[in-house]
Amino acid sequence: MRVIIVKDKAEMGEMAAEIIAEGMRPKEHFVLGLATGTTPIPLYKELIRMHKEEGLDFSTTITFNLDEYVGLEGTHEQSYRFFMNRELFNHLNINQKATHVPDGMADDVEMSCAEYESMIADCGGVDCQVLGIGSNGHIGFNEPGTSLGSRTHKTALTESTIRDNSRLFEKVEDVPTEAVTMGIGTILDAESILLLATGANKVKAVADAIEGPVTATCPASALQLHPNVTFVITEDAATGLKLDWNRG
Ligand code: PGA
Repeated sequence: MRVIIVKDKAEMGEMAAEIIAEGMRPKEHFVLGLATGTTPIPLYKELIRMHKEEGLDFSTTITFNLDEYVGLEGTHEQSYRFFMNRELFNHLNINQKATHVPDGMADDVEMSCAEYESMIADCGGVDCQVLGIGSNGHIGFNEPGTSLGSRTHKTALTESTIRDNSRLFEKVEDVPTEAVTMGIGTILDAESILLLATGANKVKAVADAIEGPVTATCPASALQLHPNVTFVITEDAATGLKLDWNRG
């Protein structure tokens, strides 16, 4: 495992963007797994800058997002499809048809989840999966207790996730209570994984994920089983780590 502790969010974004760009440049069809939330925004800003100022080319990049709320259309401002268009895709030379987000409106959710898995496999798998981490240790919407081998599935959100995410909605009652998410097994199939974390509210989740036992109680701890995972953590989120990780 590589754990990189950086000063602040801007440095986290730059570090993560450089890791992704390095992976992208030699590949004809890079498959990028993406996450929503506040954490990856500095990364997306930096990728946009690299595209605009340095010509980083996304024309053949394929993306798969981790998750989507059940019941929100892609045109809904709080949907993850809307977020991705606004924060990233609209600013790149990416083919919109090559950007995939799980369907939160599918009539047959099970079939839609199976199709999502097939689409990822048909593209040759994810080359680099970006992850945030929930304050309860979730990755994607794999809440504590989710099977470490799970595939893309529909799930109920925990009270703590609904509370955390309510800051983006007018009132807590507006937060959807279900989501479709890649499973932990799906995430672990990626060639490489890049987890970003920032903020004092992530201290326990980060420490449990990196230095705790591998347990479904902290879904992110499953990443310890992956051979190519990089954590980029800001100092304020890293204060619970005890081992002497390479500092920056
Ligand atoms: P955040 O969410 O980036 O908004 O903190 C992370 C997550 O829930 O995975």
